[in-house]
Amino acid sequence: MIVEVVSIFPELVGLLDVSLLGKARGSGLLEVRAHDLRDFTHDRHRTVDDTPYGGGAGMVMRPEPWGEALDAVLADGPAPLVVFLTPAGERFDQAMARRFAAEERLVFCCGRYEGIDQRVIEHTAARARVLEVSLGDFVLNGGEVAALAMIEATARLLPGVIGNPESLTEESHESGLLEYPAYTKPAEWRGLEVPPVLRSGDHGAVARWRAAQSLERTRRVRPDLLPPEA
Ligand code: ADE
Repeated sequence: MIVEVVSIFPELVGLLDVSLLGKARGSGLLEVRAHDLRDFTHDRHRTVDDTPYGGGAGMVMRPEPWGEALDAVLADGPAPLVVFLTPAGERFDQAMARRFAAEERLVFCCGRYEGIDQRVIEHTAARARVLEVSLGDFVLNGGEVAALAMIEATARLLPGVIGNPESLTEESHESGLLEYPAYTKPAEWRGLEVPPVLRSGDHGAVARWRAAQSLERTRRVRPDLLPPEA
């Protein structure tokens, strides 16, 4: 998979090398390319923003550097899905990560300030598949951290990136429920015991206990995830 990131902080993309995704990049499963939006400006100050039409606080990212950056990125390589990061977008989730993981090429456009001139999104949508996506219902200073989170969630779904693919099917959000609690050795730590059923060797009992814990945890912490009849 090819992932491209357009940002005024392209060096942030280097963070991906630190986690297990560094290995995926090394092995050729994932190629991440960062582009500096300021390389597509032509003034001495490399200006990327200006005041909003209609007034109001903050600055808006100008369309010209974005247009040139996207011209360059779209001109070469397989047809991508272009993702604009914005708190005003559709909310990212595990299903969207799976959808991203099926793409050959993803282009993440990281806005800063009060966002990107809307004509950039409109213009791009006329030549490529475009989504406006939010990491969650909170506001970041820019799309970079959101893009990194989405890239990590997506890349770990690529075949070969995670050593044991079974760990992908058991985890929170894959089944629609939160994951059951996990324990490792020692069996007793600071007076706290690992639930005996997990040490019983009874695989059926373990599976039933985990299913019940998943349901109880989801009911308690995230009742919004439960189907209406549960
Ligand atoms: N930029 C600022 N806030 C954001 C969010 N919640 N998701 C994606 N991009 C953002």
